[in-house]
Parts: sequence; C-alpha cells; structure tokens
Amino acid sequence: MDNINILGIESSCDDTSAAIIQNGIMLSNVIASQSVHTFYGGVVPELASRAHQQHIIPVVHQALKNAGIDKSNLSAIGYTRGPGLLGSLLVGSSFAKGLSQSLSVPLIDVNHLQAHVLAHFISEGNPDEKHPPFPFLCLLVSGGNSQIILVRRYDDMQIIGQTIDDAAGEAFDKCAKVMGLPYPGGPHVDKLAKAGNPTTFTFSKPQTSGYDYSFSGLKTSFLYLVRDEMKKNDRFIIDNLHHLCASLQHTVIEILMAKLRKASDDFAIKHIAVAGGVSANSALRRAFHEHREKHDWQTYIPPISFTTDNAAMIAMTAYLKYRHNRFGALTDTPFVRVNNTF
Ligand code: KG4
Repeated sequence: MDNINILGIESSCDDTSAAIIQNGIMLSNVIASQSVHTFYGGVVPELASRAHQQHIIPVVHQALKNAGIDKSNLSAIGYTRGPGLLGSLLVGSSFAKGLSQSLSVPLIDVNHLQAHVLAHFISEGNPDEKHPPFPFLCLLVSGGNSQIILVRRYDDMQIIGQTIDDAAGEAFDKCAKVMGLPYPGGPHVDKLAKAGNPTTFTFSKPQTSGYDYSFSGLKTSFLYLVRDEMKKNDRFIIDNLHHLCASLQHTVIEILMAKLRKASDDFAIKHIAVAGGVSANSALRRAFHEHREKHDWQTYIPPISFTTDNAAMIAMTAYLKYRHNRFGALTDTPFVRVNNTF
C-alpha cells in the first residue's frame, strides 16, 4: 500500500507551523514563533499576518526536508480553517489552496479545536504511547480557549462548556501584566508560584451555570486587590510577588478542575485529557495527577510540544479526515469564532 503523506499547516494565531504525518506517524513538526508581539504585551493581529507571510514558505520547506519527503509525494494538504485571527488564517488557507492546486492533491480544512483534541492521537512511533479511548472528556485551555469537550469519536465532539468571557490563559496573562511580568505571563506566574503560598490571597470565583467558565471576575478582583494594596505600600507587588502568583494560579486551577469534576461525574466518564498551552502549567498537571489517585481518573497529558499551537495536530486531524474521504473545497473561507462543526 502507498504511504499516506499529509502536510499540515497551522497559522491561526502567532505561530507559523508545518508538519508531516505519514500513515499517522509524525515525521516532522516545525514551528516559527513570533517574538514581535512581546513588546506590545499581546498578539497584534496585523503584525501576526505579516509574520506568517514571512515564515510560511521557509517553514513548509523545513518540514518537508526534516521528514525527508519531496512535495511530489504529498497525498493531501491540511490547514487550519478556524477559529483564529482572520488575517492569520487567510495566509495559511491561501497558501494551502495554492499548493494543493499546483500539486493536484486534495485540500482538507481542519477545525483548530478539534485538532487540539486529536493531538492526543499523534504517534511518534513509540510502542508505549497511550492514547485515550472514546468517549473521553478533554479540557482545552489556551490563550484563546477554555472548553470542556465531550469526545465521542474523532469527528463527533460536543463543546459542553466554555468560557463566557476570558480564557484561562488570558486570565494568567492579564494578571501577570498587572504585576509587570513579560508577555505571555502564564509561564512566569507558574515559575514564580513555586516559591509562594497559594492560600495567602483569595480571589472571587465565578457562579456560572453548567460547565461554563468565567475568568473576568477573578481578573477584576486581582486587579482591585493589587490597586488597593499598592496605595498602602508601593512595594506590595515586589514584596508579595510569589504569593500573588501562587494564589492566582491556585484559584485558576480550582475553577478549571471543579467544572471538569462535575462533567466527569455527570457523564460518568473517567478518561480525562487536557490540551492547549495552559496544560504546560505545573499546578494543573499536578491537579490531574491528584485526580488520578483520588477520583480514579485515567488522565492523558500530551508532550508540551503538542499542547501549544502546532501543525502536527493539524496534519493528524487531516490524516483522519483523509481516511474517511472528508475533503475541503477551494471555496471554503476561514471562520473566526468557535463553532461546533467538526
Ligand atoms: O495554546 P497556546 O500556545 O496558544 C494560544 O492560545 O495563544 O496557549 C498560550 C497560552 C498563553 O496564555 C500562556 O500564558 C499560557 O498558554 N501558558 C501558561 C503556561 N505556559 C503557557 N499558562 C500557565 N502556566 C504555564 N506554564
């Protein structure tokens, strides 16, 4: 049987990435991150689109080279159709369309959220890899998303809960900014929290219904505490940096895990996965391990390189769609907001 070689292209936010999956096994995964946004304390959409334009061709060349595959041997091109930043998505989708036309191979549109979930099925060819069985729950937490997804099959997913305002990563980043930490603040909070007491400060927790999240109240209560305390002591942040980070992190993780526990109980599902950039957080990983012991969960935490935005997960999703003859059309346009079409 001929090899199925899929090129995946990811350009939904501020990472330009290309990857090759051959018969479900990852051969390469190249990521060009954009440092240009650091100065602005957040992603600037216009600059992101321009950086994608600069990076996309070299990144695709490198992915092919690292995989040892010639472009004439590609079976299909998968690309991120959405959700994401429109200008960024347009760069990847237009490039993918042009390449698929020039090579006369099918085009496969990929939902970025579905791909985060299916990152759990990327194989690196190791026999001891552990992939979740269906059905499972996936907590997707990143700079733009906070969702609980019920995954019944590779193409049957239901978002049962999501944030009604800020995403978890956004809460980390915005509170980090209040403390004067560099963007993105999440990893800095994680590091500084290690030497802090998580119960020194308490912040408000949301009263959202069902499995939905909310982080804007926490962000505001964090901001007010810092503002009020700084009036009394202008060294408050410096004196309490570790405790502030530990208390913030503790609250975010408690909010995330409470809804996930509820979903696990209500749906009687014990296979629980995590995806997205925030899953790099050490306290969240610890919470997953604790739940494995206390609540008899089977947990699935992918390598960090597959939790942040990457094209391997796009290529993997495209590979599964390819095997089910599910192809995209040249008239498909990017979508910006979360939708339930997988
Ligand atoms: O999935 P991702 O790479 O892309 C976007 O959604 O943009 O996630 C990035 C987010 C940022 O908000 C970042 O602060 C957060 O993930 N993050 C973390 C950690 N590492 C990355 N948050 C908390 N702790 C971490 N160790």
